[in-house]
Amino acid sequence: SHIKILGIPGSIRKNSYNKLLLKATLNLLPQGVEMEIFEDISQIPPFNQDEENNPPQVVKDLKRKIRESDAILFATPEYNRSIPGVLKNAIDWASRPYMDNSFNGKVAAIMSASIGMLGGALAHYHLKQILSFLNVNVVTGPEVFVSFAQQKFDENGNLVDENSKKFISQLLTNLVDYVKMVKSKQVVSL
Ligand code: FNR
Repeated sequence: SHIKILGIPGSIRKNSYNKLLLKATLNLLPQGVEMEIFEDISQIPPFNQDEENNPPQVVKDLKRKIRESDAILFATPEYNRSIPGVLKNAIDWASRPYMDNSFNGKVAAIMSASIGMLGGALAHYHLKQILSFLNVNVVTGPEVFVSFAQQKFDENGNLVDENSKKFISQLLTNLVDYVKMVKSKQVVSL
């Protein structure tokens, strides 16, 4: 009953606050939960439907890692009131070809960090919409919005905001409960 989480960052920036948010999550995992961060999102080429039946190795790796995980944890910035193109690009690859959507039936949770006041809330909701279409069970809360992110991490990149840590811990607890619920449901429906 070990639970595996795959963390996917929405930013490929070296000092990305969202990458740091996923790193901070590694220190907050409940017992019996392991988490890996998919660092290679930067290596994914632009999606081309001509290639969807034979995707590049990095995409095959992403799809396999998604399938091997019980849950996906996204941490995304907000770019112009939506998710960054690099994240949408990765999701598009992983959702294709039709009938081979690696996200199908998974559980996911979303966090967002932004230097702005809204904490990436609009990106967060765009991502929810995309995941709903891909038949992902998105954990409803708490909504982890890290606003004014430049004030929430120390010079070594550690998350130092206690409120954010509390919300992340609660989100992880809810994620685990959701995974258990979805798994028990799947046993019945199979
Ligand atoms: C931004 N940023 C931003 N912030 C926000 O709260 N709402 C927004 O709509 C946008 N739009 C936007 C567009 C583009 C193209 C860039 C580059 C940036 C600022 C954003 O929050 C900031 O750059 C974060 O630091 C990005 O997250 P990472 O890379 O630190 O994870």
